Amino acid sequence: MNAFPFLFNTFVFMKVLLTGANGGVGTVVCQAALHTEGIELVPCSRQALDVLDSRALAKALLSHKPDYVINAAAFTHVDRAETEVEEAFRLNALCLKGMVDACNQVGAALIHLSTDYVFDGEKKTPYTEEDKENPINMYGASKWAGEQVVLAYNLGTVVRTSWVYSLHSKNFLAAIPRLLRTKDEPLYVENSQKNSPTFALHLVEALLALVKKNVRQGLYHYTNAGGGCTRYEFACHVRDRILEKEPGARLVPVYPMEPVLQDPPGTAPRPLYSVMSPDKIAKQLGLTVPHWQEGIGFII
Ligand SMILES: NC(=O)c1ccc[n+]([C@@H]2O[C@H](COP(=O)([O-])OP(=O)(O)OC[C@H]3O[C@@H](n4cnc5c(N)ncnc54)[C@H](OP(=O)(O)O)[C@@H]3O)[C@@H](O)[C@H]2O)c1
Repeated sequence: MNAFPFLFNTFVFMKVLLTGANGGVGTVVCQAALHTEGIELVPCSRQALDVLDSRALAKALLSHKPDYVINAAAFTHVDRAETEVEEAFRLNALCLKGMVDACNQVGAALIHLSTDYVFDGEKKTPYTEEDKENPINMYGASKWAGEQVVLAYNLGTVVRTSWVYSLHSKNFLAAIPRLLRTKDEPLYVENSQKNSPTFALHLVEALLALVKKNVRQGLYHYTNAGGGCTRYEFACHVRDRILEKEPGARLVPVYPMEPVLQDPPGTAPRPLYSVMSPDKIAKQLGLTVPHWQEGIGFII
């Protein structure tokens, strides 16, 4: 399967500075930018550019003078954010003031990533950009605070996404193929939370399309299409796809986990339903958003 199916034909040259370049999304931005005509990427790992350091941010922006900054740096430990509240808010919200100021100094547009966890999960149909935020955990609250800093900037764009996975991810979705092949007992998988899995490369395609189309302000949802699924449903699809490709594969069975009535100690509450609609960004960029099942082919 071609991992880089998108190619932009109209030639526009854009310099993009990327923060959090070694993270799950950042790594895929780096790979995809290599295959995208007209994008010069300046990838910055945490070691190269600490986003908590406003002076370092200003210096980097003055030195590179990018057209865009993509901020993929974040405090992403959902459970730890419940106890490390200050750290989560510092990285997900407070430091964005320095980032916006640095961008403003050189006229750079800022694309910032956020999350479906800004919603409380009470809805039964996909969340749109018009829906009211009401985070139920500290990670969601810190990300929502950050969104407001970015959206107050006249060149600020926020892209909310969810359950991002790729071959490089360290999360459960990406681990399923290996678990199915190596476990010696059935795989029990959580089946209460419904969400939109998002293949990282599809998300990054949309981020780079925002750059190429020179979108400079707004709030967007980007997840894979198809109405979402639970982790259990995702695992079943992964299993089916492996068996289609390799009919003799030895895989453990997958069962739904019993629903838990109370969040286990040390875990953050999570919205039970946080499927988001990618219709607005699809329409604006003329993108066809792939179904969540399409990403699975890349990780099995
Ligand atoms: N993955 C998902 O399922 C998901 C879902 C919804 C939203 N998002 C959002 O998408 C964005 C990217 O997430 P991700 O999955 O790529 O997260 P990730 O894999 O945890 O990567 C975050 C990156 O931020 C870097 N970082 C941490 N502190 C930093 C600092 N002070 N200065 C500079 N960089 C720093 C980390 O550096 P080190 O590598 O050195 O630790 C890491 O590379 C985040 O805004 C996240 O909230 C992700």
